[in-house]
Amino acid sequence: MSTDTNPQADLFRNAMARFTNGVTAVTTTENRLPFGLIATSVCSLSADPPTLLVCVNRSASAHDVIARSGVFAVNLLSAEQKDVAQRFAELKGSERFDLMRWTTGKSGAPILIDSVVALDCKVLAKHNGYSHTIFVGEIIATKVHADPAASCLLWHRRSFASTALEVR
Ligand SMILES: Cc1cc2nc3c(=O)[nH]c(=O)nc-3n(C[C@H](O)[C@H](O)[C@H](O)COP(=O)(O)O)c2cc1C
Repeated sequence: MSTDTNPQADLFRNAMARFTNGVTAVTTTENRLPFGLIATSVCSLSADPPTLLVCVNRSASAHDVIARSGVFAVNLLSAEQKDVAQRFAELKGSERFDLMRWTTGKSGAPILIDSVVALDCKVLAKHNGYSHTIFVGEIIATKVHADPAASCLLWHRRSFASTALEVR
């Protein structure tokens, strides 16, 4: 059934929009070129070994690149990096990284310099997630922002927000 006419799918999307997630740029590489997507479906998995998972739509341009290269990095965006999400939405392929400050991680995946934390991963496992693939990554290197109080970019009710406000 088309999701456009499926009330259950709308209910699902509206329900999921109530969750608040950190916005990440999941980056990967092929032929030394950078690729990636904006993703919120990132979750920690195990501390030993250090692993996380990310759910990537099979239709996303970076999906097959991650599958082929076997590497990706999860860059948790700071509140000052909303422009990164905008560039990913406006541009395609490696152009998304033009004018962006990034370096190459241990895995070869791009590490965005100003991210709150960058987790460089090797793909340990891939699982079928229907429209998505669940990539399990072993974290082989971690880079944290110089400012330990750097605010994260959040996605809530289909809008950007930030962790800058403290709840008392
Ligand atoms: C805030 C936000 C969160 C997203 N989270 C995911 C996600 O977790 N997984 C995913 O596959 N796509 C996610 N997307 C969609 C992708 O970033 C991307 O737009 C889509 O896969 C198309 O990418 P392409 O133009 O490279 O093919 C998200 C988009 C936004 C704006």
